[in-house]
Amino acid sequence: MISRGDYVDSDVCDPVAVVDSVWFRYEEDYVLKNIAFEVLRKDIVVVMGPNGSGKSTLLKILAGILKPQRGEVYICGKNVNEMQSTDLTKYIGFVHQNPWFYIFNLKVYDEISFTLRNLGVNENIIAENVLEIATELDIVDLLDKSPFTLSEGEARRVVIASAVVHKPLLLLMDEPTAGLDYNNKKKFIGIIRRLNKVLGTAIVIATHDIDILAILGEAKIVVMNRGEIVYRGYVGDILSNPKILIENSLSIPVEIEIAKMLGINWRNLENFNNLIAEVGKIKGSLCR
Ligand SMILES: Nc1ncnc2c1ncn2[C@@H]1O[C@H](COP(=O)(O)OP(=O)(O)O)[C@@H](O)[C@H]1O
Ligand SMILES: [Mg+2]
Repeated sequence: MISRGDYVDSDVCDPVAVVDSVWFRYEEDYVLKNIAFEVLRKDIVVVMGPNGSGKSTLLKILAGILKPQRGEVYICGKNVNEMQSTDLTKYIGFVHQNPWFYIFNLKVYDEISFTLRNLGVNENIIAENVLEIATELDIVDLLDKSPFTLSEGEARRVVIASAVVHKPLLLLMDEPTAGLDYNNKKKFIGIIRRLNKVLGTAIVIATHDIDILAILGEAKIVVMNRGEIVYRGYVGDILSNPKILIENSLSIPVEIEIAKMLGINWRNLENFNNLIAEVGKIKGSLCR
C-alpha cells in the first residue's frame, strides 16, 4: 500500500489549510471579503450558505484553482501560490459539483488510477490502491465498466475514489449531495466519515443542503453570506440555536423542527424514520 509519506513531506501538518484574510473578485465586486478560515487535521467542516454566498469560490481558492487578489492561502504551511500543481494534487483532492465534469477515461479503473499514474506510481501498487479505495466505496463491481454508463450516485463515488486514491491530506467537495435522495445522502455521509477516520483526510463540504446538518451533527460549520463568514461553530450548536441559519436564508431540517416541538431529543435523531418511530411511541403512550 502507498502511504501518504510517499507523496507529501509532512504527514502530520496541522492546520492542514489556512486561509488568511482573503479577498477575491471575478469582476468589480468582491465575492469573498476578508475570509479567515482554518482546517485542522482530521476536521470535517461544512461550509453552508445560500446560493451565491461564495462557497464554491472559497473551495476553489483552497484548492489553488483561483488566486486571491488579497490575502494568502497555505496548505501544510506552504503558500499555494508558490506550490507546483503536482504538489497541490498530492495534498488536495477536489470533487467538483458535477460528477461528470472531470470524468474522461473510458474505464472506471483508469479514471481512479489517473492521479497515481501521474505521480509515477508502479502499476502493481496502483492496482492495490485502486482495489483498496474501491472496496471502501463499494464500487469494485464497477472497475471494468465505462464511467459513462453509471448512475449519478455511482459516478459520484467514482469521482470521490479518484480524488482520494492517493490519500490526500485534504478533500474538498462542492455540493456533493446534490441529486441524492435522503437514504443515499446518509450512505454518502457514512462514506465521508470513514474516509476521514480511515485515511485521516480532513474534509470540507460546501453545501446549501440542510439535510446534511441532521446527518453530520458532530461536524464543524462555517456559515457564509454575501462573501463573508457570519458564523463558525459546530453543527450541533447551530441546530439548538437555528436563528443564524434563518437569518441567512437557510433553515433547520424539518424533522429536527418537529422533534423540538414535540419535546423529543433531536440529538439522537439521525433521520426521518427515527422521528416517525419516536412519534409512534408518543402516540402509543397518549392512546393507552
Ligand atoms: N466565473 C464567474 N464569473 C463571475 N462571477 C462569478 C463567477 N463564479 C461565481 N461568480 C459570482 O460569485 C459569487 C459567489 O459565487 P459562488 O462562489 O459560486 O457561490 P455559491 O457556491 O455559494 O453559490 C456569486 O455572486 C456568483 O454570481
Ligand atoms: Mg456553489
